[in-house]
Amino acid sequence: MAESVITPVDERNAADAVDLLLQFFVEGGFSGTRGQIAGNLNAMLAEDDCWAALAVVEGVPAGIVTVSTTRDIEYGRIAEFGDLYIRPDYRGRGLAQQLMEAGQAWCKSIGCNAVLLTIARADNEQEGLVRFYRKLGFELTDRMIAECRL
Ligand SMILES: CC(C)(COP(=O)(O)OP(=O)(O)OC[C@H]1O[C@@H](n2cnc3c(N)ncnc32)[C@H](O)[C@@H]1OP(=O)(O)O)[C@@H](O)C(=O)NCCC(=O)NCCS
Repeated sequence: MAESVITPVDERNAADAVDLLLQFFVEGGFSGTRGQIAGNLNAMLAEDDCWAALAVVEGVPAGIVTVSTTRDIEYGRIAEFGDLYIRPDYRGRGLAQQLMEAGQAWCKSIGCNAVLLTIARADNEQEGLVRFYRKLGFELTDRMIAECRL
C-alpha cells in the first residue's frame, strides 16, 4: 500500500484543502460555497488554536481533518473535530484513523483535556462510524447537540 503523509494545512496547500472540503460538503449535502469554505478555512488557519491537516498519498491530497479549540470552564481547553473527509477512492486504508490520531496528538500538545465531535450521518453508515470513533477513544454521551442559526 502506498505510503501516506499527514501534512498540516497552510497557505501552500490551502487550495487542496478547499477542494476536499467542498467535495465533503457536496457529498454530505451541507450548504456552503467554495468562497465561504475558503474564507472560513483561512480564518481558522490564522488562529493558533485551530488546526487542519491533509493525508497525502504519493502527492495526491486524499483526505482532510479540521480541528478548532476553545477555552472552557469544565475542561480548561476543549477541542472539536469539525470536518473529516477521505476521497472515496482512498477509503478503507486507514487514512481517517491517521488524520484523527494526528489531530488528537495536536490537541493534546496545546493543552486540550477533551475532544468532541458530531456524527452527522443519519443513514446506515452511522453504526460503522460509531465503531470507528470508539476505537479512537470516543464514547457517545447522553448530551444532545442543539443549534440555533444566527
Ligand atoms: C468516514 C471516513 C472519513 C472514513 O475514512 P477511511 O479512511 O475509509 O477510514 P479508515 O480506513 O481509517 O477506516 C477505519 C475504520 O472505520 C470503518 N469505516 C470507515 N468509514 C466507514 C463508514 N462510512 N461506514 C462504516 N464503517 C466505516 C472501516 O471499516 C474501518 O474499520 P476497521 O479498521 O475496523 O476495519 C470516510 O468514509 C469518509 O470520508 N466518509 C464521508 C465523510 C464522513 O462521513 N465523515 C465523517 C463525519 S462524522
